[in-house]
Amino acid sequence: MADLLLGQVLRYAGDPFTTPDAARPITHGAVLVDAGRIADVGEADDLRARHPRARVHDHGSRLISAGFIDAHVHYPQTAIIASWGKRLIDWLNSYTFPEEMRFADPAYANDIADRYLDLVLARGTTTVCSYATIHPTSVDAIFAAARARGMRVFAGKTCMDRNAPEGLRDTTQSAYDDSKRLLQKWHGLDRLSYVITPRFSPTSTPEQLAALGALWREYPDCLMQTHLSEQTDEIAWVHDLFPQSRDYLDTYEAQGLLREGAVYGHAIHLTERERARLIEAGASLVHCPTSNTFIGSGLFDMSLAQSLRVGLATDTGGGSNFSMLRTMAAAYEVAQLRGQSLHPSQLWWLATQGSARALHAEGKIGNIAVGMEADLVVIDLASTPAIEQATRRATDLWQAVFPTIMMGDDRAVAEVWVGGRPLPVTQPRAEV
Ligand code: GUN
Ligand code: ZN
Repeated sequence: MADLLLGQVLRYAGDPFTTPDAARPITHGAVLVDAGRIADVGEADDLRARHPRARVHDHGSRLISAGFIDAHVHYPQTAIIASWGKRLIDWLNSYTFPEEMRFADPAYANDIADRYLDLVLARGTTTVCSYATIHPTSVDAIFAAARARGMRVFAGKTCMDRNAPEGLRDTTQSAYDDSKRLLQKWHGLDRLSYVITPRFSPTSTPEQLAALGALWREYPDCLMQTHLSEQTDEIAWVHDLFPQSRDYLDTYEAQGLLREGAVYGHAIHLTERERARLIEAGASLVHCPTSNTFIGSGLFDMSLAQSLRVGLATDTGGGSNFSMLRTMAAAYEVAQLRGQSLHPSQLWWLATQGSARALHAEGKIGNIAVGMEADLVVIDLASTPAIEQATRRATDLWQAVFPTIMMGDDRAVAEVWVGGRPLPVTQPRAEV
């Protein structure tokens, strides 16, 4: 039986960075969900008349949106989120690498993968693009957990063959072989996509980057994800490690790791040449604002969204929160610090269509339109007394939405639909 969701429907007819009035909200709207997809969208009265037998879910004035898409996360860093201290390289060595070491144990990987996906679903995130660890079983863990929940998830084995501790290094050959085997096992199965994943240039030799470039040429429809120009001391290290390269991007470009389908996290401190090449190549960038303030990396230039695919992400656990609402708030504040005021419609779009476009999945997820997969989030726009009192004088949708963007969290998430089915929204229980 089809389901009919009633509420304020938020959908887009284009990109609000290039078309300011791209949002097409419907105040008394409805979304018909049938066989996992959106089958009809429009005015509530019209859809009720057209689909009299559908099961009705009346959400009143709640917002019905595409589920959030978190375009850059490290699910293995779930347990070390919000760890105090210092800058990127120290943070990696002090917290990240020791934690990632634990994923040699498949039972631990399975446990964290389950915990992580339940945490994000409770925050309205229905798709993530994740790094795993160097252990192939860590990829199996996240894909198996996603498959059990019916989620569209992107992930790949993180490859590192230098500048990482013993036990967290692979080799050029094993990175290629393991990545290829995992890709053949998971890519295209149900709603899963394999992503070729060199961690970043400091932890890969040019030979490993070249091997992954070769693998990408064999499987050109895959995405390739890595990190680019996050912190100034990281960039200086890249210059030392790759003296023959023109810049950070060139370390990837020289090995066949720059073209459409390349998804670079952070990309804050770019040279003019790098910006021009990224645009020319049609690459995607992912802005991770809570991470960039938490680790002290810098302020992303959102004007790049005029000319590139830009997605939004938590960068769990460099980011300080699992919530895409908190991430939108941070994106607003980072842009303010650069003198750019992002409109709420742009923030919401970044967390849905923007991220979908960055992952080349905009035909499937990230918007409410007939034929799209039915991954939805229903948002209570008065989820706390503080938010409720701030919305009372709202005279349009965006005034009503902005307090939830700036102050909302998991309490704002009333319902989540994945692949056409409503999920019980449950917080993973605290361990005692
Ligand atoms: N650069 C390379 N690896 C990482 C990581 O795990 N987190 C962040 N924020 N940056 C990185
Ligand atoms: Zn990252």
